[in-house]
Amino acid sequence: MHPVRIAPSILSADFAKLGEEVRAIDAAGADWIHIDVMDGHFVPNITIGPAVVKALRPHTTKPFDVHLMISPIDAYLDAFAEAGADTITVHPEAGPHIHRTIQHIKGLGKRAGVVLNPATPAKMLDYLIDMVDLVLVMSVNPGFGGQSFIESQLKKISAIRKMIEHSGRAIDLEVDGGVDPAWARRCIEAGADALVAGTAAFRGGPEHYAANIAALRG
Ligand code: DX5
Ligand code: ZN
Repeated sequence: MHPVRIAPSILSADFAKLGEEVRAIDAAGADWIHIDVMDGHFVPNITIGPAVVKALRPHTTKPFDVHLMISPIDAYLDAFAEAGADTITVHPEAGPHIHRTIQHIKGLGKRAGVVLNPATPAKMLDYLIDMVDLVLVMSVNPGFGGQSFIESQLKKISAIRKMIEHSGRAIDLEVDGGVDPAWARRCIEAGADALVAGTAAFRGGPEHYAANIAALRG
């Protein structure tokens, strides 16, 4: 298990100055930059596409943790890889063949993540755990920042931590949604080693980012 990595979600940044925001959150100690891609179809919100990912790439050397909430999904994987994604994380519900989608991401030379919605059981991972680099547990329903953490997901985090230990593979276990410093502690206790935070990371503007990230590390 790694020391916890903090992945601020730029969904909570000022979209009018995203490059500056990415540089500020990098300087404040972000480990990864979490990029929420939404299509207004798989989730009821629309955010950014590959062109924006590409435009942000020169602003930081930190890994881009790209969370795709789009359907269909397979036709867009190459574009996000070319735009500079390091990890591409996909929902099993977003396409007909999640195994093939993960194979495609690996074939592009990128780290592949699978993300489980609050109602999706850990069991979904049984035949994927041997090929993914990251598992993302959604602690809110995907679509919006600023929602409340769903406590039942702590049990799923613990279950997946055991599956990862059992697999013997180095797989990151990340949590996304409603993570503030108090929930961060409980996620880490349950076995998470990477935390996404939108609201809690970007709260208060750039002069607060370093303290916000430090608080999430606990
Ligand atoms: C929700 C996104 C999250 C969201 C997190 O669909 O996947 O990454 O931006 O924002 P907070 O931390 O505000 O819940
Ligand atoms: Zn996300």
